[in-house]
Amino acid sequence: MEFDIAVLPGDGIGPEVTTEAVKVLQAVGERFGHRFDLHKGLLGGCAIDASGTALSQETLDMCKQCDAVLLGAVGGPKWDDPQAKVRPEDGLLGLRKGLGLFANLRPVKVLPMLVDSTSLKPEVIKGVDLLVVRELTGGLYFGQPKEQWQTPQGRQVVDTLAYSEAEIQRILRVGFELARARRKKLTSVDKANVLESSRLWRQIATEMSTDYPDVELQHMLVDACAMRLIQRPAEFDVLVTENMFGDILTDEASMLAGSMGMLPSASLAGIPNGRTFGMYEPIHGSAPSRAGQNLANPIATILSVAMMLRYSFELEAEAQAIENAFLATLEQGYRTYDIMSEGKIKLGTKEMGELIVQRIKS
Ligand code: IPM
Ligand code: MG
Repeated sequence: MEFDIAVLPGDGIGPEVTTEAVKVLQAVGERFGHRFDLHKGLLGGCAIDASGTALSQETLDMCKQCDAVLLGAVGGPKWDDPQAKVRPEDGLLGLRKGLGLFANLRPVKVLPMLVDSTSLKPEVIKGVDLLVVRELTGGLYFGQPKEQWQTPQGRQVVDTLAYSEAEIQRILRVGFELARARRKKLTSVDKANVLESSRLWRQIATEMSTDYPDVELQHMLVDACAMRLIQRPAEFDVLVTENMFGDILTDEASMLAGSMGMLPSASLAGIPNGRTFGMYEPIHGSAPSRAGQNLANPIATILSVAMMLRYSFELEAEAQAIENAFLATLEQGYRTYDIMSEGKIKLGTKEMGELIVQRIKS
């Protein structure tokens, strides 16, 4: 089969990890007889430098014409001035919104061989296999008004947490469907004791649960959820939540797996059906202090490619080939700096990518 993929390496370690992920993709193409045509574009700080905007119309149009998007990471100190008119992150948010990617899937799985590289007790994190479904194009990130202005008493600012019923329904639908395909437990995370938006969210979740009698729905307040995630994380299956809550909880949840460098993500434009348009990116940032040193862990981006094959191209065997290759590499003791522990073999970005490629080819 043939697929067109937009590749947006971005800034910092983005280009390095994307290069390895592309090599893995090409290896899958060779082994399984698919053609992946890559279309490179600029996003984030590099796009600001090139054209003064973090997301050009050209990049957005190119992504729309492709079957999926692979993204590295954006941002860096060079573009961090709080007074700046454009920020690299605006490009990422504009792309999510512009492509209608409302469902962000962030799986967190604790691997037995990495239990020693986390800061939590082995008995707490053993068996963790959860999936956060984060709403990605609404809520506090996008609500209007969103502005700062001057008043005689000082500066004033507003952000808005807004959702329509349809927006809440479609993200909850993704949560229910994915829970149904897994261990059938859905935790809907909100702040219904304070926020009006959360009260509607909770109500809609309860209404929809009658369509999913096989899925056990649980409501949890976001603060309690933050606690529970480090207290008894193995009890979670699928969590579904508002944009900003999801942002915060997924950084927390990533620590269960030992490093942000391990966690992939998919941002989908519909209910997952194997052929859903999506953008795939590691959950980590551009890590400017590690950039250009062949240090960064490429696994999160490589696993994002596996998610692309699974959710946008309906290529399950190919996705598993990547996942098996990466597991075999870790089992043989190879590590990048962020997951290094005693007695293991430390590799750079390229070497880790190369070993995974070799295992896919063999
Ligand atoms: C993420 C990141 C982004 C977000 C930033 C870079 C805008 O933290 O993907 O989790 O907040 O969504
Ligand atoms: Mg984040």
